[in-house]
Amino acid sequence: MATAEPSVEADPAFRADVLAGLRSDPRAIPARWLYDLRGSELFEEITRLPEYYPTRTERAMLETHAAEFAEEIGPGRAVIEFGSGSSLKTPLLLRAIAPAAYVPIDISGEFLMDSAQTLSRDFPDLPVFPVEADFTKRVPLPYEVSRLPKLGFFPGSTIGNFVPFSGVDFLRAMKETLDIGAMLLIGIDRIKGEEELVAAYNDAAGVTAAFNLNLLERINRELDGDMPLDAFRHRAIWNDRLARIEMHIEAIRDVAFEVAGDAFTMAEGDTIHTENSHKYGPRDARVLLRAGEWTMRREWSSPGDRFALILAEALPPRTAP
Ligand code: AVJ
Repeated sequence: MATAEPSVEADPAFRADVLAGLRSDPRAIPARWLYDLRGSELFEEITRLPEYYPTRTERAMLETHAAEFAEEIGPGRAVIEFGSGSSLKTPLLLRAIAPAAYVPIDISGEFLMDSAQTLSRDFPDLPVFPVEADFTKRVPLPYEVSRLPKLGFFPGSTIGNFVPFSGVDFLRAMKETLDIGAMLLIGIDRIKGEEELVAAYNDAAGVTAAFNLNLLERINRELDGDMPLDAFRHRAIWNDRLARIEMHIEAIRDVAFEVAGDAFTMAEGDTIHTENSHKYGPRDARVLLRAGEWTMRREWSSPGDRFALILAEALPPRTAP
């Protein structure tokens, strides 16, 4: 008997992560798998939601403080962006500081070429050197920028998606990539009232729910799954002990399904953990940066301290204390 071919060739890493994640206790699937084409579109939609304040808050800050960035950072740096998805924020920074070069680093070559092209149109005189790489490890930079002073740019509070332990590893990798003397401009979302945080990840229009549940559709399509969509719902939970929003996919009844030929069951109320979004108070953020070998130089915070942009620097090592 011929079985139906999955319409898309499955990524072996996706398959491995999903099968291991569904077997583990608690069940958890890495957040990166939320961002297929549909997931990335839905995330773009999230950034425009009334409840989802981080994107518009950060963008407004990049506009408002342009002159201060210029003063603090100065011209002539190579801007190294970790992840090249923030097409709307990058031009604001580049316009503010008059950089000598722009190096977007992304794991997806497609995204990279897209945003590099768009940028070159707006900044015809700015040399752009896209690098396709996993930026959670040290990335060798193009020869052309090796002699330039560097500014790392990591907006969006994406650092919050790492558990602190891995976030620190990642900050250290960024320092290795950029080297001593570099600066880093990083966006960090603040701890705030639970109601506001949960609303930002469980919007009234249901876009975040669709974003989260799209993972099930992806599993069904790419991994030959039969997870019944009507047996699950989106949950956003504030975990105060770990200072993070967690997204889960919760079974609303007992359910049995197959993925890639393996059988699974979930009881009503069981969840699959799909994303973390850690939030940091002012002191927390500075300690996180210090643990990652970055020293805060200047901090901008939005009205009501809802979101922060921190300019840090990689100082040369010095002897204790
Ligand atoms: C862009 C990955 C930082 O955690 O706020 C938004 C992702 N997930 N709503 C975030 C996200 C659900 C977002 N990051």
